[in-house]
Amino acid sequence: MDHTTVGIIGGGPAGLLLARLLHNSGIDCVVLESRDRAYVEQRQRAGILEQSTVDVLRGSGAAERLDREGLVHDGIELRWNRRAQRIDFPALTGGRRVWVYAQTEVVKDLIALQTAGGAPLLFEARVTAVAGADTDRPVVHYTHQGQDKTLSCDYVVGCDGFHGVTRKAIPDGACRTFERVYPYSWFGILADVPPSCDELIYAHSPRGFALHSMRSTTVSRLYLQVANGTDPADWPDERIWDELDARFALDGGWRLERGPITSKAVLPMRSSVTEPMRWGRVFLAGDAAHIVPPTGAKGLNLAVSDVVVLARAFARLQDTGSAELLDAYSDTCLRRVWRAEHFSYFMTTTLHTDPGQSDFETRLQISQLDRIAASPHAAAELAGNYAGLTIE
Ligand code: APR
Ligand code: PHB
Repeated sequence: MDHTTVGIIGGGPAGLLLARLLHNSGIDCVVLESRDRAYVEQRQRAGILEQSTVDVLRGSGAAERLDREGLVHDGIELRWNRRAQRIDFPALTGGRRVWVYAQTEVVKDLIALQTAGGAPLLFEARVTAVAGADTDRPVVHYTHQGQDKTLSCDYVVGCDGFHGVTRKAIPDGACRTFERVYPYSWFGILADVPPSCDELIYAHSPRGFALHSMRSTTVSRLYLQVANGTDPADWPDERIWDELDARFALDGGWRLERGPITSKAVLPMRSSVTEPMRWGRVFLAGDAAHIVPPTGAKGLNLAVSDVVVLARAFARLQDTGSAELLDAYSDTCLRRVWRAEHFSYFMTTTLHTDPGQSDFETRLQISQLDRIAASPHAAAELAGNYAGLTIE
């Protein structure tokens, strides 16, 4: 049976970055990813990197293309009641900003580094079970190239996303999951048209939420709040653009450029946290441990902060023999996780219209948005959370 120090399940951003950080510290690891490389490299996800995430990618040597191609954004725009308010991040946070650089690009950069001399990364290696989480030698069972294989590990890290198998290695009752499912979804499109704005626009409207984001100076990414169970086939291109126009409308006018739509998908919205993020020698990181709704784009950034904390803890263990940081991993991460959970929930519930929402509740949303426009303190609270906290 093969052996490694840290067995990493899942080659999304969490697993790939953890492998990079461990490799840089001289710690042995293996990444097992169930999908093929092409699939992992084209999966559409959010595209906003916090200041701390960029700092980590730079420090790990994975930011060369990000620094060339990423778009630096110094704020966002909020829209409600047919008016707009800019939130200036550096001015409100002491200089923090965000980068527009798609998660798929981060993943491509990390895979390129790993295949050019990093730790072993196996694609089409589907983990079926993790055994012995409470022993000194947990064992990962997986299939690769049609064969059943096993990998024995000192530690196992589940970076296998929300539907992964690692959480199942933890016995019922040892962990608790806190969850909320939202009564609406996002309908996301990619369009071959330059963005109609310099910064992202988050719009509250009586017709529901809309978001204008981007992937580059030539590709726009837009989202509409839709009912759960919406079928993209019911949304011909013209209907999408008309609805976006209506939700982004401003007094005084504003023009949304239209272009060919190259992708349409409906995404459910969920908040979820599993506590603790560790059991025995099995750790959970990224989406395997927590999910946020996408309003505020915290998912990738939380995955990054988890693995930074974990890599530091493994390095401490290797250098000094002390498991103190490993033992603190779950508590350290959960403080930041719950802050991001609250912020994502706040952005979601302030900007979306719940199907059962009363006019009273709509007035409360408007009052909250008015407060952000009127008070630098309220705006700074939003800016600080959006641009992201420093990693503890
Ligand atoms: N065996 C091996 N790999 C698996 C298994 C399995 N049984 N199950 C899932 N995986 C892989 C998936 O194919 C995927 O590549 O684990 C990876 C998990 O990656 P992500 O879902 O991207 O999760 P994570 O790395 O935690 O990144 C968090 O993803 O959902 C977004 O918004 C979220 O941006 C955030 C990011
Ligand atoms: C995206 O570009 O996909 C995106 C941006 C901001 C969000 C969510 C998604 O809040």
